Amino acid sequence: MTGTAAPAPAPILEARDLVCHFVAGRALLGTPTTIRAVDGVSLSIRRGETFAIVGESGCGKSTLARLLLRLIEPTAGSVLYDGRDLTGCSPREMRALRADLQVIFQDPFSSLNPRMTVGALIEEPLRVHSRLPPAERRARVAALMRRVGLRPDLAERYPHEFSGGQRQRIGIARALASEPKVLIGDEPVSALDVSIQAQIINLLEDLKTEFGLTLIIIAHDLAVIRHMSDRVAVMYLGEVVELAPTDALYDQPLHPYTQALMRAIPVADPTQATGQAHLGGDIPSPASPPPGCRFHTRCALATDLCRRERPAPSTAPNGHVVACHHWREAARHPPPRPAPPRRTPAADRRFDLYRRHNRPDPTGPAPKTP
Ligand SMILES: Nc1ncnc2c1ncn2[C@@H]1O[C@H](COP(=O)(O)OP(=O)(O)OP(=O)(O)O)[C@@H](O)[C@H]1O
Ligand code: SF4
Ligand SMILES: [Mg+2]
Repeated sequence: MTGTAAPAPAPILEARDLVCHFVAGRALLGTPTTIRAVDGVSLSIRRGETFAIVGESGCGKSTLARLLLRLIEPTAGSVLYDGRDLTGCSPREMRALRADLQVIFQDPFSSLNPRMTVGALIEEPLRVHSRLPPAERRARVAALMRRVGLRPDLAERYPHEFSGGQRQRIGIARALASEPKVLIGDEPVSALDVSIQAQIINLLEDLKTEFGLTLIIIAHDLAVIRHMSDRVAVMYLGEVVELAPTDALYDQPLHPYTQALMRAIPVADPTQATGQAHLGGDIPSPASPPPGCRFHTRCALATDLCRRERPAPSTAPNGHVVACHHWREAARHPPPRPAPPRRTPAADRRFDLYRRHNRPDPTGPAPKTP
């Protein structure tokens, strides 16, 4: 035993200076409006980790996810999967790689073809990506349904006959059918009731271990992210402003924007409320982001330097990478209330709901009656 720290796992997915600009219609004089949805994002996702992406609505989270899966083409930059540049792959090569990179969406209903039975929906990726004969495909569908907590005898039903949580289970089974290496959840539980959210999160965590997945989770709920992720990237107006291990980020957020997000987490104990204003003002339009630091219009620490120069990411203690000219000063003035508890009683109650009452959950609840 040498006592040296184990090296960080190799990256499975890397974004290098990713840019995605949308041209959103033309003004009267013919000048197109450019939406800078993702504007120079570099990050590296390690094999086997759960990596979270957070930020306000419209900051570019879903666009980044779609770029990582190469569902859309970047304006500039590249995505490397297992060291291989996806942007250089032909459509045929991409089809083969697609099995490895799967996604589940916020609204499983709109992503599931309503005319296909659940069995056919889950079988479809097997038809595309495997050479299994029909009988084995059907056996695999039944096994997947059982694994995500759905009764296999419901395979002939249609998505509208199931509840929201059950539809998300169908989406997960379909994503798992091609035996992916990376699974991206774009707000996978935001549309679900709180108790159902806990079930789906626990299911994803179990499947991650069982299938050796790398999970990328996009979410608004910072409590959920704290519960399940290893590292977190915080996005603001198309940029990653802070990236850190989860505990380090929640214990000492360094970027003023992350600090504001943390202050906005509801506290379990109202006596700890600070009365401090949370993040004020609206997020500026990605069609005309502010010059310099994009957060300067809402930042209490903004200086002339911030208004002039875009801050480059720098490495701070505890593994933070932070893009702020004044992060040292921000670190000296952390959010005034104590850092949120590692697990709030409310969050514990939510996650216990599933663990105590529903495990093991071999079949899941009965579907809605048609
Ligand atoms: N196909 C598109 N054409 C034009 N603009 C787009 C397109 N897709 C996204 N945008 C714009 O890009 C910006 C980022 O959108 P994106 O959906 O990535 O944000 P988001 O962080 O996922 O938001 P939300 O939390 O609401 O899902 C938004 O201003 C959005 O309107
Ligand atoms: S660079 Fe300046 S404006 Fe931007 S977050 Fe840091 S202190 Fe605030
Ligand atoms: Mg989104």
